[in-house]
Amino acid sequence: MAADRRGKVETLALRRRLLSNSCRLFYPEDPIKIVRGQGQYLYDEQGAEYLDCINNVAHVGHCHPLVVQAAHEQNQVLNTNSRYLHDNIVDYAQRLSETLPEKLSVFYFLNSGAYHGHLSSLIDISPYKFRDLDGQKEWVHVAPLPDTYRGLYQEDHPDPAGAYANEVKRVVSSVQEKGRKIAAFFVESLPSVAGQIIPPAGFFQEVAEHIHGAGGVFVADEIQVGFGRVGKHFWAFQLQGEDFVPDIVTMGKSIGNGHPVACVATTQAVARAFEATGVEYFNTFGGSPVSCAVGLAVLDVLEKEQLQAHAASVGSYLMELLEEQKAKHPIIGDVRGTGLFIGVDLIKDEATRTPATEEANYVVSRLKDYYILLSTDGPGRNVLKFKPPMCFSVDNAQHVVAKMDAILTGEGVGSKEQLTMSVEPACSQDIGRSRVLARSLPGGAGTGSWWGGGGGGALGPRPALTSQTS
Ligand SMILES: Cc1ncc(COP(=O)(O)O)c(C=O)c1O
Repeated sequence: MAADRRGKVETLALRRRLLSNSCRLFYPEDPIKIVRGQGQYLYDEQGAEYLDCINNVAHVGHCHPLVVQAAHEQNQVLNTNSRYLHDNIVDYAQRLSETLPEKLSVFYFLNSGAYHGHLSSLIDISPYKFRDLDGQKEWVHVAPLPDTYRGLYQEDHPDPAGAYANEVKRVVSSVQEKGRKIAAFFVESLPSVAGQIIPPAGFFQEVAEHIHGAGGVFVADEIQVGFGRVGKHFWAFQLQGEDFVPDIVTMGKSIGNGHPVACVATTQAVARAFEATGVEYFNTFGGSPVSCAVGLAVLDVLEKEQLQAHAASVGSYLMELLEEQKAKHPIIGDVRGTGLFIGVDLIKDEATRTPATEEANYVVSRLKDYYILLSTDGPGRNVLKFKPPMCFSVDNAQHVVAKMDAILTGEGVGSKEQLTMSVEPACSQDIGRSRVLARSLPGGAGTGSWWGGGGGGALGPRPALTSQTS
């Protein structure tokens, strides 16, 4: 039976029976069955078209024909592991090296981005994971998130980069006082799960100084934000300034446009140190001829369609539209971003900047009714995050902001009495088609929410340092 012929109810029932509940769904109360994707659009089993504002994996567009063709052609000839000589892997390493500072000249290929969350060693360095489990290990140290909107040092601080870097220095010193050494500093170049944070320029350089001084290496995670997404540069760490070069860069997601490809780029010094251990590096699927053909095709499309420049111009237009919304709706506390990586921070009130969590969820669920897919992130789950396929257009930007405006304005549903949400029970034949009869947002941040509660939540990922006993 073709996957799209099976009714949504049946698919859900099968999924519930056969898959673990740990595998979560978007919109769990009303999951969407997606059967096709093209460009920045996804299509459900009924043919309804959704605008995808969140899938940064489908970087050059869902099912881009040139990427599909490259995979298909190579699949017909050869797909095997990287223990044989093959031109694709060296061509691909060469092409990637042309996008990076010269120092990052050694490449390891994988089939996944080594998620902060699956291996116990990586759970251990992911605050948003370990906080729900065994807690922080003695060899893990967490530095404050360089968040100039809600963090320790905000936009009014004269030198937030220096102040946040000093916090890292403080952590390093306290580690050393305990007789430990620093192994590595891990950070997303733009912390996304932490709420679309833009670290102040110059922060990484100062941190790298402290980390190198203590004998550690600087690892920049570009898995969500690399490959031109930030518009001004190909790599998000380059937003920090020309003079900054990490020791290790991790790449994934967008690198293969949906094909499982990932890569670690590093310096000769780090590679030599790893070689000295005598341990072989091998990954069954990493660097296969098909993976590398796909990776090369993604780079070709980025270049041919000038998607980095496109991300810069559409992204700044979207930011302008969102800034207009901010001026209009006090619930929008902050609009931040670069290129097609944008966060809209919803707050209860400006004085406390308390995350407007329920309101953010509400906006996301209403946008879905308009066939727009957006999601939230950040420790307070209150930041609306945009990270669409890079072909996202000016029209798409206008469309999503117009709908957001309508939702925030209350969609013409005026009085407070009408703000009570009433949901009809879903009928078994039509799961998820529950109807919301009267919905609106409160008049604005600070007016008191009809959802009650709010804010807080588990702390999101922050830069993590790891240490070894000396
Ligand atoms: C910032 C970041 N790093 C790493 C990963 C891991 O990638 P993968 O799921 O391919 O292992 C993710 C995945 O969500 C991520 O968001």
